[in-house]
Amino acid sequence: MPFDLSGQTAIVTGGASGIGEAISKRLAEAGATIAVADLNKAGAERLAATLGNNSFGVQMDVSNSASVNAAVEEVLKRTGRIHITVNNAGIAGKAAPIQDQPDDEFSRVMAINVNGVFYVCRAVVPHMREHKYGRIVNIASIAGKEGNPNMIAYSGSKAAVIGMTKSLGKEVATDGICVNAVSPAVVRTAILEQLTPQQVTYMTDKIPMRRTGEPVEIAAVVHFLASPDCSFVTAQCYDASGGRATY
Ligand SMILES: NC(=O)c1ccc[n+]([C@@H]2O[C@H](COP(=O)([O-])OP(=O)(O)OC[C@H]3O[C@@H](n4cnc5c(N)ncnc54)[C@H](O)[C@@H]3O)[C@@H](O)[C@H]2O)c1
Repeated sequence: MPFDLSGQTAIVTGGASGIGEAISKRLAEAGATIAVADLNKAGAERLAATLGNNSFGVQMDVSNSASVNAAVEEVLKRTGRIHITVNNAGIAGKAAPIQDQPDDEFSRVMAINVNGVFYVCRAVVPHMREHKYGRIVNIASIAGKEGNPNMIAYSGSKAAVIGMTKSLGKEVATDGICVNAVSPAVVRTAILEQLTPQQVTYMTDKIPMRRTGEPVEIAAVVHFLASPDCSFVTAQCYDASGGRATY
């Protein structure tokens, strides 16, 4: 069975809705136990109850290292192992010109999208190293490669995610741990409600396939990168962008 995840545990941050929900479902269908880790604990528990394989919800605020460490501890206590970590939690922030971007809005986007990936990776890597196995998948964005105007914090944060993926992937390359990123273009989820319709139209018009992506299409790419079949691929960024990426 290719991409089989039977007997494995996966943490999916921001797993309660949108792309994270689709990833949780896909990995569970492949046999994994999912720790749905989200700020929205009730939503995480609701989804986990539908996934099977003793999946469960766990409260995690990725922007708070104490919350991340406590949640990872809880997952280890319940399952004994973390084979897969998908850093999916993220926010778009405010779509506005640079002069209308307040300090706290910029910091909020960085705290969740950048610090969050750092905190979660730092919490799981020692465990993965100890077991000489791990798959980490970071959800970046095409905005991190090409930059979307009026989204300076988001674009910068996602470029940071790609950079961190390349750095950590090389750092743990001889430890049985593969670290990769996925860069989606626009996918129709609740995150788009943070943006103006004009901003969404601008981003969709740039996609050669002339449509938005579906969460399940992102989950399909994540599935390979989260599996043991992904064994000689690390420190890379995979685009799921309907052809938008130019490199
Ligand atoms: N939808 C798109 O067009 C698109 C495109 C490219 C990249 N992405 C990225 O995909 C990821 C998922 O986006 P989505 O569209 O599914 O968003 P979404 O808003 O539908 O879901 C985000 C989830 O993250 C959770 N979350 C938010 N802040 C959190 C925190 N501090 N700690 C833990 N959980 C938190 C939310 O509760 C929610 O369940 C994000 O990293 C986003 O940047 C999305």
